[in-house]
Amino acid sequence: MKKFTSCLSGLICALAVNAPADPQPTAPGPVQINITTAHWTLRLLPGADGRLYQQPVGSAPTQGNLKREQESYPQAGDGYIWEPALQVVHADGNTSTDLIYDGVQQTNEPAGLTLTRIQLHDPVYPFHVTLCFRAHPAEDVVEQWVEIRHQETNAVTLQRMASSSLLLTKHVYLTHFFGDWAKEMLSPITEQLTPGTKVLDSKLGVRAEQFSNPNFVLALNEPATETKGEVLAGCLAWSGSYQCEFDNNNQGVRALCGVNPFASAYHLPPGELFTTPRMIWTWSNQGLGDMSRKLHRWARDFGMRDGHKTREVLLNNWEATGFDFDFDRIAGLFSPAHALGTELFLLDDGWFGNAHPRLDDHAGLGDWAPNRQRLPDGLAPLAAAAIKNHLRFGIWIEPEMVNPASDLFGQHPDWVIRQPQRELELQRNQMVLDLTRPEVQAFEWQTIQTILSVPGITYAKWDCNRYLTQPGSGGLAADRQSHLWIDYVTALYALMDRTAKAFPDTELMLCSGGGGRADYGALQYFHEFWPSDNTDPTMRVPMQWDYSYFFPPVSLASHVTHWGNRPMHFACSVAMSARFGMDLDLNKLPASDRDICAGAITAYKEIREVTHLGDLYRLENPHDNYRGALNFVAPDRARAVVFVFQLQAGAAAPVRPQGLDPQKNYIIHEMNPAPGRATLPAEGRTVSGADLMRDGIVPSCAHAVEASVIELGT
Ligand code: DGJ
Repeated sequence: MKKFTSCLSGLICALAVNAPADPQPTAPGPVQINITTAHWTLRLLPGADGRLYQQPVGSAPTQGNLKREQESYPQAGDGYIWEPALQVVHADGNTSTDLIYDGVQQTNEPAGLTLTRIQLHDPVYPFHVTLCFRAHPAEDVVEQWVEIRHQETNAVTLQRMASSSLLLTKHVYLTHFFGDWAKEMLSPITEQLTPGTKVLDSKLGVRAEQFSNPNFVLALNEPATETKGEVLAGCLAWSGSYQCEFDNNNQGVRALCGVNPFASAYHLPPGELFTTPRMIWTWSNQGLGDMSRKLHRWARDFGMRDGHKTREVLLNNWEATGFDFDFDRIAGLFSPAHALGTELFLLDDGWFGNAHPRLDDHAGLGDWAPNRQRLPDGLAPLAAAAIKNHLRFGIWIEPEMVNPASDLFGQHPDWVIRQPQRELELQRNQMVLDLTRPEVQAFEWQTIQTILSVPGITYAKWDCNRYLTQPGSGGLAADRQSHLWIDYVTALYALMDRTAKAFPDTELMLCSGGGGRADYGALQYFHEFWPSDNTDPTMRVPMQWDYSYFFPPVSLASHVTHWGNRPMHFACSVAMSARFGMDLDLNKLPASDRDICAGAITAYKEIREVTHLGDLYRLENPHDNYRGALNFVAPDRARAVVFVFQLQAGAAAPVRPQGLDPQKNYIIHEMNPAPGRATLPAEGRTVSGADLMRDGIVPSCAHAVEASVIELGT
């Protein structure tokens, strides 16, 4: 493979940045276009017929004629018979599209990135498509999206418009995750993609997932392990209905990912630009662990906010008080919280509504004035009381929703998403406000602005507790109803972006009735996400393992609660492996549990530089084992932290950390050891990285729901 010739920053380079390699065009034609990262090259090739082809990832270079099956971004209606990436009805009713290669620009961007833009056009219609690829060389990440525009006499209808239609070898193993509320990511499934079409999708509208998940792994030629195999992580950056379709025509597999074409025909006026969501591909030829570490690095740099800052210890009241609180009950948590080492308090649902007080989930959403009985002087005095106790203060919001029992619904019943003539279908007693309407956009922005401007608020949890079941918009014309799915998410991102920009110092948690919005479309505006309402630590061990294929632990909120009634030491140890929080009534906590929490918080503060900013190595898969084990390694490899979570009875076998510096000597020390348990056998010993990785460490845990957190320091 020839090396990419670098261009001056910002300069648009000529097409011939790469000398042609394989596959060869059938006749003299333009050169191959390489999308290149450190260990991966995606090869695109304009053929002699003018179409753009792609060499399948994971297969030998194509010899001889290029076939239509190998088209890079195939179009429906003129010869291509498999699942197309693009399906268009032109202004004159013609249902076919042809795309011919025009040219390419490759531009160097800051931080060593390269943007490749490949222009295609229809020879018969003034219809243009640009395939865009942003390569992140060091992380082996390629972001891909598509831009569509035209100058036809009238609107064209986009019926399918994939963000990416990557062509792969025919031997592909797909790992995907099915779930439900409180079971997010708990059921990983790995299956070989046999001939035919496998579809992962959602039709939920305002969240990407509740059941099927838009984050998946493709292993080429054979199933991958943590340390072996050619793998691609695929993450669709979209918080609405999505479709990831794997079309195996027995010669290759095409992964078509993007907004769900289901009921989403988009009428694009002449002169307007349609941009698809981004698809994020991460490559590794060294298995799942390397893939995730690279994706985590990309995420900390580009996929989330403040990815290089450690996260503070948070106390949330939701599991502790539910809706049952007032000023005194909440303020009464502050002093014990500070005494334990907590740094931030989050007031959850139930603080607002007067004519329709939010005493439970039946009323109040939409009426965002603080409840006068619970908080007679509003939020500011509560925030001030938290700050006086050395805690930052955060607040729960659900700006997109309304209860029919609210002043807002009484004033604007037409603002909700619903189907006319149909009985209102509620979920959790609530409706979704129609964000495609400018007046709703203004209302939601005003709500957010008012709440986040309260003095002392520096953190917010943005929730979304239902999905669409009756997708009708009173704001959209009858012949534009199918725009709702896309226009809603576009307006949502504009609102999130505005919030992030207007409140740059306010930390934001992304939540959707648990983990319904764990996607990089929304996460770019947030600091962390809420993976699940299920905080039983025995469930969180496998769940957080699965999320970690795609999301760095610094982005993953993990709270200590009483779910499952597990030992406090086990619950704290699990939460310490991600972004630590507690959902406990500290005034009711037995002294012994309080001591364990205090010890865990002290330990968390010592190790968070490593767990939040270091590299993650998944060691023992809790889905297949009696225990789960991971370790984190600091960027300079001077420190590491090993976590062992025992789920069932089983031997205290050595756990072998990875990623250490073999030459360095590490001092072994168990953090916050469980009271009453025998000391870690190797406590205080100094052992080389090479020996630790070969021989492992025998943990102090040997029974179900016990855990060991072991620091390796130099
Ligand atoms: C759903 C969230 O997942 C919970 O953490 C909590 O914030 C509730 N909503 C509040 O209604």
